Amino acid sequence: MKPAPDTCAGGFAHELQRALAERPHVISPKWFYDAEGSRLFDTICELPEYYPTRTETALLARHAPEMAEAIGPDAELVEFGAGSLQKVRLLLPALRQPAGFLPVDISADHLQHSAAALRASQPGLSVTPVGGDFTTELQLPPARGRRVGFFPGSSIGNFEPDHARALLARWATWLDGGLLIGVDLVKDPAVLHAAYNDRRGVTAAFNRHLLARANTELGADFALDDWAHCAFYQPALQRVEMHLVALRDQVVQLCGQRFALEEGESLHTENSCKYTVAGFQRLARAAGWRPEAVWLDARRWFAVHWLVPAPPDVSG
Ligand code: AVI
Repeated sequence: MKPAPDTCAGGFAHELQRALAERPHVISPKWFYDAEGSRLFDTICELPEYYPTRTETALLARHAPEMAEAIGPDAELVEFGAGSLQKVRLLLPALRQPAGFLPVDISADHLQHSAAALRASQPGLSVTPVGGDFTTELQLPPARGRRVGFFPGSSIGNFEPDHARALLARWATWLDGGLLIGVDLVKDPAVLHAAYNDRRGVTAAFNRHLLARANTELGADFALDDWAHCAFYQPALQRVEMHLVALRDQVVQLCGQRFALEEGESLHTENSCKYTVAGFQRLARAAGWRPEAVWLDARRWFAVHWLVPAPPDVSG
């Protein structure tokens, strides 16, 4: 067996080992997002079937002045999971005297690149990229103004509701100015199915990329063709689930350990929870936010919520 690379001491190795050892096998979708995973996700956002990006972008383009009005002057904007910074470009020009912009992303290289491009196009704006995992205790530099969070893309849906509530509650302690957040809405399951099973197979490649990343980064020996992409909507849980399903019995080597997997076993790689407007507002209230405004597209496929900090509502 090959000697384990240094990366075997890191979080990805630990989580993947734990996921393969436990049943059911479940891993956080955050491990998709190295440079290649982020590039594949950017490609997904352009696909005809993947409506969330297009719909939210149109909402931001159309309502940026109202959103900026709600945010108010002198705000320091913190974008979580900032990635390629496309959406914030629609909001920033509408803001009155922004005190600064802090994009936060786990994929530090991708972020540095996007931040440099943003600085070049908005020379007056102070842009401070922060590489890190926004789901854990993150060290942000001292605030320069009222802190307002920006979390587009419906990434909140990638956390199960209890975890989403905990994340929103933590942000309520960081963000004294408010939170602008994009949330994907419950809709016709056929639309959801198509969005996560695109014809070109980009979503399948994105899903399998988790294994490809384990091979290159951790020296694992997953045979990618032995894993099928599987994504489906679970109406009772209001979520799209993404899995990788083993197409044959196999033994996988990872960081000095061997894991036996049977044909048909799945590695659950992502949940993408969908909300009604009222359902998300309930969640936000329970996490210490007061919903103030919400912008929807004509088909009611996507919502952008404006929330302000408020004492938690524990009435249920
Ligand atoms: C990042 N996130 C909001 C995407 C989603 O729709 O849940 C990730 C994704 N997974 C498959 N396609 C896109």
